Amino acid sequence: MSKLWSGRFSKGSAKLLDEFNASLPFDKKLYKEDIKGSIAHATMLASVGILSSVESESIVSGLKEIEHMIDDGEFVFDISDEDIHMAIEKQLIKKIGESGKKLHTARSRNDQVALDFRLFVQKSNLEIIDLLQELIESLIYISKDNTSTLMPGMTHLQHAQPINFAFHMLAYANMFKRDIDRFESSYKRSSVLPLGCAALAGTPHKIDRVKTAQLLGFDSVSVNCLDTVSDRDFALEILFNTSTVMVHISRLAEELILWSSYEFKFITLSDEYSTGSSIMPQKKNPDVPELLRGKTGRVNGNLISLLTVLKGLPLAYNKDMQEDKEGVFDSVQNVSISLQILKEALLTMHIDKENMLKACSTGHLSATDLADYLVAKCNIPFREAHFITGHAVSHAEKLGKDISSLSYEELKDVDERIGEDAIKFLSLRNSMNARDSQGGTSEESTKKQIKDFEEWLAKRD
Ligand code: ARG
Repeated sequence: MSKLWSGRFSKGSAKLLDEFNASLPFDKKLYKEDIKGSIAHATMLASVGILSSVESESIVSGLKEIEHMIDDGEFVFDISDEDIHMAIEKQLIKKIGESGKKLHTARSRNDQVALDFRLFVQKSNLEIIDLLQELIESLIYISKDNTSTLMPGMTHLQHAQPINFAFHMLAYANMFKRDIDRFESSYKRSSVLPLGCAALAGTPHKIDRVKTAQLLGFDSVSVNCLDTVSDRDFALEILFNTSTVMVHISRLAEELILWSSYEFKFITLSDEYSTGSSIMPQKKNPDVPELLRGKTGRVNGNLISLLTVLKGLPLAYNKDMQEDKEGVFDSVQNVSISLQILKEALLTMHIDKENMLKACSTGHLSATDLADYLVAKCNIPFREAHFITGHAVSHAEKLGKDISSLSYEELKDVDERIGEDAIKFLSLRNSMNARDSQGGTSEESTKKQIKDFEEWLAKRD
């Protein structure tokens, strides 16, 4: 059978053109969405009398057989069919004859591809949401065991204030929770039926788009056909959302890499999720977090790539838009595996609580507490308290000590208004627990954050 659109052509297409033009090698991934959409379309066409019920039944059963053929690897893909839509339609006509030729009534590949791709993106949104939720669950699991694990909180990668490890993990849980929110709102926004817009202007056939929307589970029907066949916002959204997830993953990956170095030694990645060096026998490399960090590049690239493809396109469909799929497939696949492997790496790593505690004894983590003490107990304005504390820090440095281990006498040398009770304020655990404002790092506040997460998770199940 020649090409389905070959009526006005007198010569067949060049082989090179077939290879260049075809999307079949990658869009065959959409076969289930294509068949689902065609079944809904045929059912709707029968409901309005455009197809007889016999015709629609034979189309539906033919499509189901084709689906099984593809499932079982029995379908022979021929690149000269151009794309998955043509490949399936051609096979259908081959299988059921004349009624197969009626399936494309009131439809074009422009609304067909908009539908198939949208269904794929919607399915991917839901799959990624599940994986994000599993990752959050594992962060909560780790947090529950670490609300009293002191670690240095940092700014500028310099010791800043003592926090607990659970608080740090919960920061990431919050990022991934916002990611879920983004995928959910994108899902809702994309729940609009494109099918029935045909090439760009609608169709003279008396179709029932509401019926098709119901059959496919869409919330509504698109309102302007020209916009509908040109619109790839749903693809941009999943590319942005996956990029944001990868940026979050990458920041955590970076910390895992730092924390597993000899300089930090806060964690040890399990052997199952580390690799060795081919030359240096002593090495255990953090390849997993490094690859997670590295993959962020391609996922971010996919977003920029589609933005660039779309930016100058006149309405409506242009073949440039065929370039929308591979980046989305790639981002979805890479984010999915990244979420799974990050979860496993976290659950299997060893957390070295003692080393984290040891690290807290340098860098004057509780310096701010001395300033806060001077404000609260000695009625000294904060700016001045800050200055005095600066002195205390340099005094401690001269003595080769951390501010948290200065004695009462040593503190008195800095400013005689400092009382004995300042010692308690300077203790690291006290410093952490003092930060009990809403969202703060105190054990109490951290436990509350865990409880809120658990309630949120329970509601989702
Ligand atoms: N393979 C095409 C794509 O992925 C399908 C739509 C083709 N439409 C057209 N008018 N040539 O974008």
